[in-house]
Amino acid sequence: MLRTFWQGSMIALLAAGLVVSGCKKKSKTGNDNSSSVTKRSVKQAALQVFSHRHYPADKKLFKLFTKKTGIPVVVTQNKADELMKRMQIQGKNSKADVLITVDAGRLVRAEQKGLLQPVSSKTLEERIPANLRDPKGHWFGLTRRARVIVYAKDRVKPSELSTYEALTDKKWKGRVLIRSSNNIYNQSLLASLIVALGEEKAKAWAKGMVANFARSPKGNDRDQMKAIAAKKGDVAVVNTYYVGKMVNSKKKASREVVKSLGVFFPNQKDRGAHVNVSGAGVAKYARNKEAAIKFIEFLASEEAQKVFAKANYEYPVNPKVKASKLVQSWGSFKGHKINLRLLGVNNKKAVALFDAVGWR
Ligand code: FE2
Repeated sequence: MLRTFWQGSMIALLAAGLVVSGCKKKSKTGNDNSSSVTKRSVKQAALQVFSHRHYPADKKLFKLFTKKTGIPVVVTQNKADELMKRMQIQGKNSKADVLITVDAGRLVRAEQKGLLQPVSSKTLEERIPANLRDPKGHWFGLTRRARVIVYAKDRVKPSELSTYEALTDKKWKGRVLIRSSNNIYNQSLLASLIVALGEEKAKAWAKGMVANFARSPKGNDRDQMKAIAAKKGDVAVVNTYYVGKMVNSKKKASREVVKSLGVFFPNQKDRGAHVNVSGAGVAKYARNKEAAIKFIEFLASEEAQKVFAKANYEYPVNPKVKASKLVQSWGSFKGHKINLRLLGVNNKKAVALFDAVGWR
């Protein structure tokens, strides 16, 4: 909801609602809740977090960080592209210390725009597998998600499924549901196919998918699952956490939808299912660099990773932490182990291929 508030007045609103800590202390010392960093810096400069994520669990974690370190956290929340544009325009004057966003494709975009700085941290290297972070330390994956195939249990046997590539088989004509190509999740999926198979085969895959579409792409991942339940198609490609969200949805209709669906991890006999992350990087002009690193280290800690795992049905990046029970119930899987930077590096090619094959 707060995402819709922006510009001047938003800052005050965020300060009032989302200054996740230090509020009590500040009111006592007479600091108002305006966005003035200088006022805050009397004691401990607040860590300024620009975040695309909007989950209650994140707020809980930021509070915990403050409790542990005494460092207040101020969150500015908006769409990733808006936050990045703002950082770019403001340059050295940007107040951002940390940028949090989803999809490695976007994190690489932020790095390529010069919005992030390289960070070296033994702790982060220990806590986050190498393929889930930028080799130069511009960004670090914090949660993992797999892009999987879901299928109508009454119309598709899991034995009929195998790979993303196999969805282009004639037998799936008119049965495949997936969202549009302007969505970064699909761009990153196609980028992973470019890395694994080369551009030509990746293009053939995209073309084959278009040929098998049940309908012209529309809606988000959840809508694809709803469309299966409405018998508009039989298989869909979606991110795992949306399945979890629907299983535990407040809406009965959503819970009913997922009851009729199965989760299938593709490409288990070869490279593994496509995996992506949400992640964070230290802003190029961070005023609180040390605190920013500490913050990301904390988010990768076992304690914080457990919260992430429970809250949003994502997979932890820290190998010491298990996924939630529900997520585990879909089975363990092998993920495509490429450095996720490659998803961003191949993003433009992926977009061009989608255009070339008419995947709208
Ligand atoms: Fe998402």
